[in-house]
Amino acid sequence: VTRPIQALRGDAVTFRADPFDRPSAECLVYQEDALVIIEDGRITSFGGHAETRHLLPEGLEPVHYTDCLISAGFVDAHVHYPQMQVIGSYGAELLDWLTTYTFVEEQKFADPAHAAMVAGRFLRELLRAGTTTAMVYCTVHPQSVDAFFAESSLWNTRMIAGKVLMDRNAPAALLDTAQRGYDESLDLIDRWHGKGRQHYAVTPRFAPTSTEAQLDAAGALLTTRDDLFLQTHLCENLKEIEWVRELFPARSSYLDVYAHSGLVGRRSVFGHAVHMHEGDFCICHQAGAALAHCPTSNLFLGSGLFPLFEAVDPTRPVRVGLGTDVGGGTSLSQLQTLNEAYKVAALKGRKLDAIQAFYLATLGGARALYLDDRIGRIAAGFDADLCVLDLKATPLIDFRRQVCRDITDLLFVLMTLGDDRAVRATWVAGECVYDRERPEPFRYP
Ligand code: GUN
Ligand code: ZN
Repeated sequence: VTRPIQALRGDAVTFRADPFDRPSAECLVYQEDALVIIEDGRITSFGGHAETRHLLPEGLEPVHYTDCLISAGFVDAHVHYPQMQVIGSYGAELLDWLTTYTFVEEQKFADPAHAAMVAGRFLRELLRAGTTTAMVYCTVHPQSVDAFFAESSLWNTRMIAGKVLMDRNAPAALLDTAQRGYDESLDLIDRWHGKGRQHYAVTPRFAPTSTEAQLDAAGALLTTRDDLFLQTHLCENLKEIEWVRELFPARSSYLDVYAHSGLVGRRSVFGHAVHMHEGDFCICHQAGAALAHCPTSNLFLGSGLFPLFEAVDPTRPVRVGLGTDVGGGTSLSQLQTLNEAYKVAALKGRKLDAIQAFYLATLGGARALYLDDRIGRIAAGFDADLCVLDLKATPLIDFRRQVCRDITDLLFVLMTLGDDRAVRATWVAGECVYDRERPEPFRYP
């Protein structure tokens, strides 16, 4: 079925290049009074309204967003949907937080009805935050993956997700085995990978909860297709790193544990990577592997400060995306996440400018996930996944913006003061799936 042509009108921002690689001002595209024309879920034209309005079909009135900024939808490179309901759990560092809250909560996902309920809530929260693509951990239960992809298919969102693999150091109810994890993952790959806009990620939770046999099985899974993803956690917390050293004494580093099983390559995304050595960054650069920077989580769990500017050093850049890491993270909003990313960089003695920040949340995330040929930009040929930011979202934002001198100032105010309230609407594959102003804000395409 071909869908009707759609169009949006309003000020827009997007990127033409990587602002960690060259001066920021060269990378931002700011189009005042832009027109975005969409056919069959794809952007077919992006330009000034005055210059491109002749391309609109006779009688089609664009949806006009005033006092707004249209952006590519946000990309969340690391998040756990089953942890949504334990967000903001008090008082623990990573390993205690896992056993006290997370492993208890994740056991509920044996029930497919519970998984479907949370998946439904989670997708709505993402869309309300302007996020249109995420790389998502499910639980060890295959039914948690079915529930997630079923919900994502209803929204037609481009999502990456996978079944957690754990065969040790967790409650028995959350364990699989190397063989069972392999078989269940393979079955899920067959049923979901490449179905519509869904992608599969092989998901060993982290080295402490997988035996070497299971990590090897994960490596074997990756060879069954050439475009599968891999997600896991790396160098998040000092006690965790020490534990990995004890569990894998023969490996030269935490990253080497993964490399030894063939898990470090293109489409591999490592969450956190707070405590890395120069050699680790070199390996990630050479392998084309990506890191997910999760500042709200790293601050909340007291894990440490991610060295962003070391990671993206142009002499051997590592791909970096921005992750919320809910429920270790404290917000599903990429604006709030950028707010904390700025502060983490500041504590490292560096300044994350607003252009670099919004790049991380959009095209940078898409590059980290090797999806930058489809999402992350407003440009002809790209998927029409968009979010519309409201410059009058709160009285304070509206008041503050009156003294903004330029678009960079305005973007910085949005990331510092903005959150889900700053999202007026979200479009997925050319459909407006969320509009705060409608009586029923959410609508499946
Ligand atoms: N390391 C292993 N599992 C997890 C998790 O669920 N959240 C975080 N933040 N770190 C982890
Ligand atoms: Zn995580």
